[in-house]
Amino acid sequence: MSQPPKEVIKFEVNGRTVEVAVRPYDVLLDVLRNELDLIGTKRGCDQGSCGCCAIHMDGRPVLSCLTLAKWAAGKKITTIEGLANPEPHPLQTAFETCGATQCGFCTPGFIMSAKALLDRNAEPDEATIKEHISGNVCRCTGYLQIVEAVQKASEELLEKDRPHDASVVERNRQTHPAGR
Ligand code: FES
Ligand code: FES
Repeated sequence: MSQPPKEVIKFEVNGRTVEVAVRPYDVLLDVLRNELDLIGTKRGCDQGSCGCCAIHMDGRPVLSCLTLAKWAAGKKITTIEGLANPEPHPLQTAFETCGATQCGFCTPGFIMSAKALLDRNAEPDEATIKEHISGNVCRCTGYLQIVEAVQKASEELLEKDRPHDASVVERNRQTHPAGR
């Protein structure tokens, strides 16, 4: 039986514009891994149950094994490779220092899910973190270290945003006087 024709789609991945020829049934996971060599995104279950293939599409987390590649046309895609900019993201270092990664297969998916949470809630409590990563499966760590790593990254990101220099504090005070 003949294959349906390929269509060229254009999208942005980790800040780079790419053009790829895809068939109507190709999933984004395959395009990322096989066409663009972005092999940090993993295939676990291939049916939307493990979270290993999580990426961001226009800033929202999606499962790339269930996302048709053609849906990426015109969108901004971020994969685990795009988080280091150029230094590793605090989530990436926290997963390492907290022992939240063992075989590492699930780690990119957990980090992309956690990043989506921290982007909209900078200081999530433990219950919120657990709920948010409940769609990600890890066979190795037992999850405690993963929750700790997300908490640690949250603290580091908040600390980074906090002004330390007295002149910055003064400038902020002048820019945003109390009561205005
Ligand atoms: S590989 Fe996509 S959810 Fe498991
Ligand atoms: S670290 Fe091995 S599956 Fe999570």
